Amino acid sequence: MATSKILLLLLLNQCIVFIGSSRQLKNTNINIDNTFNVINFGAIGDGQKDDSKMFKHAWDAACDSSAPSPTFLVPRGKTYLLQPLTFNGKHCNSNNITLQIDGRIIAPTKPSAWDCETNCNHWIGFENFDGLHVQGSGTINGQGDKWWKLSCKDNEKGFMIGHSKNVDIKGLTFEDSPQMHIAFESSTLIHATELTIRAPGHSPNTDGIHIQRSTNVSIDNSTIQTGDDCISIGNESKYINISNIECGPGHGISIGSLGIMGKTEEVEFVHVRNVTFHGTTNGVRIKTWQGGHGHARNIKFEDMTSYSSTRPIVIDQYYCPHKQCKNQTSAVEISNIAYENINGTSHKEIAVQLSCSESVPCKNITMKDINLIYEKHKDKTSSYCLNARGLRNGRVHPSVSCLQQEDSF
Ligand SMILES: *[C@@H]1O[C@H](CO)[C@@H](O)[C@H](O)[C@H]1NC(C)=O
Ligand SMILES: *[C@@H]1O[C@H](CO)[C@@H](O)[C@H](O)[C@H]1NC(C)=O
Ligand SMILES: *[C@@H]1O[C@H](CO)[C@@H](O)[C@H](O)[C@H]1NC(C)=O
Ligand SMILES: *[C@@H]1O[C@H](CO)[C@@H](O)[C@H](O)[C@H]1NC(C)=O
Ligand SMILES: *[C@@H]1O[C@H](CO)[C@@H](O)[C@H](O)[C@H]1NC(C)=O
Ligand SMILES: *[C@@H]1O[C@H](CO)[C@@H](O)[C@H](O)[C@H]1NC(C)=O
Ligand SMILES: *[C@@H]1O[C@H](CO)[C@@H](O)[C@H](O)[C@H]1NC(C)=O
Ligand SMILES: *[C@@H]1O[C@H](CO)[C@@H](O)[C@H](O)[C@H]1NC(C)=O
Ligand SMILES: *[C@@H]1O[C@H](CO)[C@@H](O)[C@H](O)[C@H]1NC(C)=O
Repeated sequence: MATSKILLLLLLNQCIVFIGSSRQLKNTNINIDNTFNVINFGAIGDGQKDDSKMFKHAWDAACDSSAPSPTFLVPRGKTYLLQPLTFNGKHCNSNNITLQIDGRIIAPTKPSAWDCETNCNHWIGFENFDGLHVQGSGTINGQGDKWWKLSCKDNEKGFMIGHSKNVDIKGLTFEDSPQMHIAFESSTLIHATELTIRAPGHSPNTDGIHIQRSTNVSIDNSTIQTGDDCISIGNESKYINISNIECGPGHGISIGSLGIMGKTEEVEFVHVRNVTFHGTTNGVRIKTWQGGHGHARNIKFEDMTSYSSTRPIVIDQYYCPHKQCKNQTSAVEISNIAYENINGTSHKEIAVQLSCSESVPCKNITMKDINLIYEKHKDKTSSYCLNARGLRNGRVHPSVSCLQQEDSF
């Protein structure tokens, strides 16, 4: 009795799986062990023919599958050319879907060859997931070279996760995105680990990972070499942990920029630990525009090593990359920022720069056990301080005179 019930259930299950994957091109041998291999849906993987449609068919089948934990598989040994593509998790049956990417995925080489009627602001997107694992030994290459030379771009993100929760990304390599490599937007409970991100140091706006309107995000055990921020954190983001990161070349780890054009923007509860900077322009940086509102607070940077970053520690409330900004009275408030156990060399004399707003000074900035040395002339290492208040403890070199020396906090 029990056995026949199970058998019936199994049969039903198979039936549903079969109906669910009716969009597949070949219907042989596909759903054994719940794996939806793009090759079985007609993907060629020669790096020339557009495989987007076959990926979409395989995805529809995986998403419609009644398997509790379906796997969408991009097998190794082949190169798949994809046009902009969005995976939507909204109507999937499972809340534990795996995208196993072991092959190489590339974008069209020429920007004009991108085929995107509706959504051109990312290449590969994931929307509306609750329970997604994106993992594997594969490489995702945005072929950004031609994009980097264009002056007018439309914020082309390489890999975007939006409106999702419980997502982890593990093991993959991301290369040469047109602009930012990975973006987390309006998402929560995200874990990125063991990623490799690489683009040339001269490639413009190729942030490694950008976090926006997202909470409870952790990024760890990753290597990021790029032409812009290794990691950047924008508005409405909090409870962010970043640890065990090799960063550089690149612009370091940045909070902001916040408050552009008088906007209100907020970032808080960020913990950055154990990061090594290799020849980056900044190490850890908080940047805000004049005239903004909101806050950046409760942020801790600890256990860092700088090898020749231009400025290892920066707060810049006069951020203005285009050099046409007026000083204004309002500013994003910066407070409760802790720096602890930060060593290494700087490429410029000023190893620590705290440029805070005149009208809204930085409050409760604390430094403990800092030892930074100007690589060309150790005795000339210096710091710059404007409108910053707080305490320093233990050895802080270069001395940061605006912070009061304390024996303990
Ligand atoms: C989710 O799927 C993965 C991979 O298929 C599997 O190892 C894991 O046990 C599943 N988790 C749950 C909670 O079902
Ligand atoms: C961040 O780290 C803290 C302390 O280790 C931990 O309690 C918290 O859960 C972590 N948050 C995330 C999103 O990983
Ligand atoms: C996010 O992290 C905070 C602080 O660790 C915690 O209080 C909160 O419950 C977490 N949110 C979710 C959705 O887990
Ligand atoms: C990251 O690496 C550290 C040190 O090797 C290890 O202890 C930790 O478990 C790793 N974290 C993850 C999430 O893999
Ligand atoms: C610090 O990060 C490096 C990788 O950058 C890792 O090898 C090391 O184990 C980490 N140390 C700790 C204490 O987690
Ligand atoms: C930033 O986040 C705050 C708080 O959630 C919100 O009120 C504000 O409108 C956001 N600013 C922008 C520019 O989106
Ligand atoms: C910085 O140097 C001090 C003193 O040599 C050492 O104890 C500490 O571990 C170093 N910190 C890092 C992050 O390497
Ligand atoms: C804005 O104020 C800062 C700090 O007082 C000053 O260094 C800078 O020259 C001012 N910039 C302009 C454009 O007035
Ligand atoms: C200063 O900031 C630290 C976190 O860096 C926080 O623990 C402490 O309570 C703050 N002190 C005040 C007086 O706000």
